[in-house]
Amino acid sequence: MRKAVYPGSFDPLTNGHLDIIDRALEIVDHLVIAVLHNSAKKSLLTIEQRIDLISEVMKKRSNVSIKMFSGLLVDFCRGNDIKIVIRGLRAVSDFDYEHAVFLMNRNLFSKLETVFLMSSGEHSFISSTMIKEVASYGGHIADRVPDVVNSKLKEIYGKKD
Ligand code: PNS
Repeated sequence: MRKAVYPGSFDPLTNGHLDIIDRALEIVDHLVIAVLHNSAKKSLLTIEQRIDLISEVMKKRSNVSIKMFSGLLVDFCRGNDIKIVIRGLRAVSDFDYEHAVFLMNRNLFSKLETVFLMSSGEHSFISSTMIKEVASYGGHIADRVPDVVNSKLKEIYGKKD
């Protein structure tokens, strides 16, 4: 069985993440969405909120599991018998960082392979950071995030449609 991990902060999950998840599911048998819990990094959503939102969106997909991780991704992969990492690349600007992380991960765990999927055009400019900024000023994000995420951000920022 081909098992892979899609790691990230998912603060919050966007349609760009969803695009990568659905395309990864075409090439692997099981995808573990690993949500980073880093107490040193300030996030808008708690780890529980991020996992709940992803679980809600994933409830119709059977070959997906959602786990929290902290510490090194390579340790999570070793502990869960995973040798494939999925990452999305939106633009050239993502490349340097992703390349450095890829090299470091390979250095730490030589059996780990990273598969990069290029984001679809309509998602190539979306980031969780931008979504939060637009939502915080009451901007329209409904077509960029799943409905449950849109509702949660409205609840947080106190905006109504
Ligand atoms: O959604 P993000 O914030 O781009 O995801 C980044 C993530 C979580 C994949 C990356 O920061 C990560 O793997 N963090 C865990 C610590 C680690 O293993 N770092 C890589 C070696 S430098």
